[in-house]
Amino acid sequence: MKGDTQERYGSISRFFHWGMGLLIIWQILKFFDRINDGEHWVGQTLVPWHISIGSLLLVLVVLRIIWAAKQKNNRPVQDPATALLVKIGHFLLYAGMVLMPVTGIMTMIGNGYGWTPFGIQLVAKGDEIPWMASIGSLHSPIAWLLLIMIVGHIGIALLHHFVKKDGVLRRMI
Ligand code: HEM
Ligand code: HEM
Repeated sequence: MKGDTQERYGSISRFFHWGMGLLIIWQILKFFDRINDGEHWVGQTLVPWHISIGSLLLVLVVLRIIWAAKQKNNRPVQDPATALLVKIGHFLLYAGMVLMPVTGIMTMIGNGYGWTPFGIQLVAKGDEIPWMASIGSLHSPIAWLLLIMIVGHIGIALLHHFVKKDGVLRRMI
């Protein structure tokens, strides 16, 4: 089933969730650049794609938001006791998914490096734009917050599956 139902997420929502989930976790490996200036296996083989994958994630999150809006009244029903918390939690994950690429792009353009995803020059190298660079400097703190939220999100999913055994994880699989 392509669309969502009140029982489970459909194939398009699952594609967005797991495809983007994998790419976001890949992007978070950029933290490993802090070790030895990225001079190690992770830094040299996985992280060089950071700007291209991040830019792809910006396109994907826009499509995902449009899709989620279309499925709004058609999604798995939440336990009323925690429905508001779930809504806030998922909203914050979306906010992180939008703000990460936006601030990343602002870091690049604001510092005059330009923006060239997948070898396609969208913005040429140029002068520094201080206000843009200063918004871009939020990229790292937001990455830490997103990482904490993802760890919490995965923890809650596993709790549902192994402790509560209520099928919440299964509706995303
Ligand atoms: C969902 C998308 C993204 C995620 C999850 C992400 C995550 C991260 C993480 C975890 C770091 C390491 C921060 C640190 O060590 O403090 C980082 C750094 C960086 N990212 Fe991203 N990023 C994303 C998208 C982008 C995009 C689209 C660009 C540029 C077009 C970009 C440019 C940079 C740059 C230049 C740095 C190094 C400078 C800095 O720490 O601010 N990122 N990113
Ligand atoms: C191993 C990793 C992950 C697991 C096990 C997992 C599990 C789940 C499950 C079970 C749901 C359905 C919850 C419900 O019906 O209430 C869900 C929804 C969701 N997850 Fe994850 N997730 C993972 C990674 C991620 C990542 C990395 C992100 C993004 C930062 C993310 C963002 C979301 C969002 C926004 C939803 C709400 C449904 C939607 O709009 O797509 N998840 N996740």
